[in-house]
Order: sequence, then structure tokens, then C-alpha cells
Amino acid sequence: MKLDKYYTGETAKVNLDGKDYELPILIGEEGEKAIDISALRSQSGYITLDYGYMNTGSCASAITYLDGENSVLNYRGYSIDELADKCIFVEVAYLLIHGCLPTEAELANFQDMMRRYALLHEDMVHFFDRFPPGSPPMSILSSMVNSLCVFYPEMVNNPMEKIDKMAARIISKVRTIAAFSYRKAMGHQLVYPRHDYSYCANFLNMMFDSPVEPYEVNPVVVSALNKLLILHGDHEQNCSTSTVRMVGSAHVNLYASISAGISALWGPLHGGANQAVIEMLQRIHRSRGNYRTFIDKAKDPKDPFRLVGFGHRVYKSHDPRCTIIKNACNDVLKALNVKDPLLDIARELEEVALNDDYFKERNLYPNVDFYSGIIYKAIGIPSDMFTVMFAVGRLPGWIAHWKEMRNDKNYRIGRPRQIYVGPTTRRLSPIGARGVCNCENI
Ligand code: ACO
Repeated sequence: MKLDKYYTGETAKVNLDGKDYELPILIGEEGEKAIDISALRSQSGYITLDYGYMNTGSCASAITYLDGENSVLNYRGYSIDELADKCIFVEVAYLLIHGCLPTEAELANFQDMMRRYALLHEDMVHFFDRFPPGSPPMSILSSMVNSLCVFYPEMVNNPMEKIDKMAARIISKVRTIAAFSYRKAMGHQLVYPRHDYSYCANFLNMMFDSPVEPYEVNPVVVSALNKLLILHGDHEQNCSTSTVRMVGSAHVNLYASISAGISALWGPLHGGANQAVIEMLQRIHRSRGNYRTFIDKAKDPKDPFRLVGFGHRVYKSHDPRCTIIKNACNDVLKALNVKDPLLDIARELEEVALNDDYFKERNLYPNVDFYSGIIYKAIGIPSDMFTVMFAVGRLPGWIAHWKEMRNDKNYRIGRPRQIYVGPTTRRLSPIGARGVCNCENI
């Protein structure tokens, strides 16, 4: 990636130990400002300390632009609203991975590869029998994706030449793995992918078809699932994507890098919030819809409770994904003729919170997770699979970042520094002469 044109020629000046250092300034395509500190340590001996990377740019990227103050989310320059309205998930996956929207022929080729790669090696299918009952679906997904590299090793060598095939293979097979893990957990016969179905219709059919009651694919449900997957497609340097980049920076293969990303996404502070929203709404429902008590709890500084599905580290205005998901939620419930009291509770909670000074002053708006679980629940997807759905949607983003990182000549193995705060050098005592440990900072 060529960055020369982004350097402004200006510098930030820092004085350390009486000596001046000039740090180059660069400004990104959408006006984001950065100070390049990459030579700071070699010149001055100083590093920067930044827990949680709150102020640290780990790379330059051309995939996603996000402006949390103004509710902007663009993939490769296209607004998320337009993509969710006019594209199918596979088209957006192609866009994220390749940089441009596909032509008709390119899309047909990409879809054809996905159809061809949808099946799992039968030996892999037996793996599902060996996980104990009740195994978390995210654990199964992460293990299965890692094992793809031993079943399909031909793509591990020279991966950049075969990145198209690898991308199609992973995106297609993860859908099959997700559906198979559900069928096994339910004790139901596996349903194999069909060539005549679209990506989303195929997934729904593999999940819910039955020998006694064939699954009828509902176009409103397919459309909502398409939107959900598109909206989860990428979110720049979040925890799981940074994990994929970090693991991949050691030149680990794509399958293993993505398996690590799935593990990161599993965490309740990251991808697990969609499940927590439904559980919170169910708690409110059990308390006879007394949502005001929950709002009061969320506002109480002495109470650790938070209104799950509200607030975001980056968005300090409306989450642009939430409105699209809320509309899709209304459509799905209407099309399936589902009356879910949780939707009424969610709407009332949103209404009250958006008019409450506590939430207004802190810029707390409903986020992407607030309504997505209600759609998944209406479709029949169990809550412990909500994060799996997030992973299926996020795959194209992870692949795009892995590819961009491997192609970027500036990229080096990820290796942060630290400030050492442990004991200074000490002599080892024989075991009989050692006292009780009184170490601090453990
Ligand atoms: N309910 C009540 N109060 C909240 C909430 C909430 N959901 N979120 C933030 N606040 C309050 C905090 O108590 C704090 O108040 P204070 O200034 O009086 O101390 C203030 O708003 C700022 O909160 P921070 O924790 O500093 O905000 P941060 O940006 O670090 O956290 C986060 C963002 C983690 C998403 C937070 O809003 C939260 O916990 N939300 C609920 C969980 C959730 O929905 N997570 C999914 C996020 S989307 C995703 O990851 C895909």
C-alpha cells in the first residue's frame, strides 16, 4: 500500500530529554489525522503506551470507512444503506474482498465456486458426532474452520494465487458448518446444501428442512437475512478483525487466522451482545414488561447493569445499521405473522431511552445488536447461535483484511512493545532457602 501521498509534510514536535523530535503527520482519504510514530523508539528510545489501542492505528486500510460522530459506515466507498437495499450478501462479500462490485459474469463465477465448495469432506462431518452434547456452537465453528487447513491443504501453499477459491470455500463451508452444528445439536438428520438455492435460502433450508415438513423459503426472511449478513460484513479494526490480522501477520494460513477471529468474536464484550439483548428482553417480559425498572437500574451509577444493545465505542450518534435492522424486523414479523411481545418491549425501551436525559447526554443509541436477535428468534434460530450468525456475516471482512495485510509491503509481524514493571534481575535461591512469595503486579 502506497502511503506517500497521505503525508502532508507537516510534523508534530515532541521534546524528550531536552531533544526535539519531529513526527510526520498524515491525513487519510476521509480526513482522519494521524501522527506516524514508527521511528520514535529507534530515534529517542521512547515507546507509546495505549491500553486497548484506543488511539493507535495498526495499519492503513482501504476496506471500510466509519465515522461514529456522523453515523457513516461505508464499504469500499459505498454506503451501508445502499448496499443493504440493493445487493445480495455474496455481492457485498465480493466487494469487500476484491475492492469493486462484481460484474454479472464475476458474480456468477463467485456463486458457482460457492456451490461447488459447499459440501464438507465426509470425515469432517464425523467430527460433529464427537463434540459433547451442549457444546457451544462458537467452539465447534472455530475448531472446524481450523481443521479445514488439513482437509484442503492444496490451498494453504501459495495462498495469494488461490485467494478467490479460498474465500469462496470458507464462506460457503462456514454456512454448511453452522447449519450442521445446529442439526447435530437438535439430534436431527443433516440436510445437505442445494445447488439451486441462493446463499441465504440454502442456509435456511439446511437449518430447517425436515423429511416430514419441507421448509418453505420465504423471500422476506431471505431478504432480512441478506441484510443482516451485509450489515455485519465488516467494521474496520474491531477486536476479531485485529485478531485475524495479528495471527495472519505471522504468515499463518487463512483458515487458522479466521479460526482465531471466531474465538475473539465469541467474547461477550464483542460478538456475544446480540444474545444478551434477547435475554434482557426476556427478563423484562418475565417482570411483566416493567422496563422502567431496567432503565432506572441502567442509570444508577451504583448498579453495574447496562441496557444491552445500547451504546457503542465508536458510534456517538445513531448506529446506521440499527434502523435498517429495525425495519427488517418489522417486515419479518409481519410476513411470518409472529406477535412477539419482546418487539413491543424493545420499541418502548428505545422510545423511553431516546427521550431520557441520561441516554441523551451520553450519546447512547440502540446499536446493531438491539433488534437483530428478534429477527433471528422469529426465523427459529436459537439464541446460542446468534454469534455464529455474526461470524457468518463477518467472514468477508476478515478475509478482506487478511488479504490486504498480506499484500501490504509495509506490513510486518504484529509485535507490540510493553513497559516492564516486574522485578529487576535477581539471583536464584536453592528451593530450601526460598521465602514466601510477596510479589506485586501478578
Ligand atoms: N446502559 C447504561 N449506561 C451506559 C451504557 C448502557 N448500555 N453504555 C454506556 N453507558 C454509560 C456508562 O455508564 C458511562 O456513564 P458515566 O459517564 O456516567 O460513567 C457512559 O455511558 C460511557 O460509557 P463507557 O463504558 O465509557 O463507553 P464505552 O464506549 O467504553 O462502551 C459499550 C461502549 C461497551 C458498547 C457500552 O456502551 C456498553 O456496555 N453497551 C452495552 C453492551 C452492548 O450493547 N454491546 C454491543 C456493542 S455493539 C458490538 O460490539 C457489535
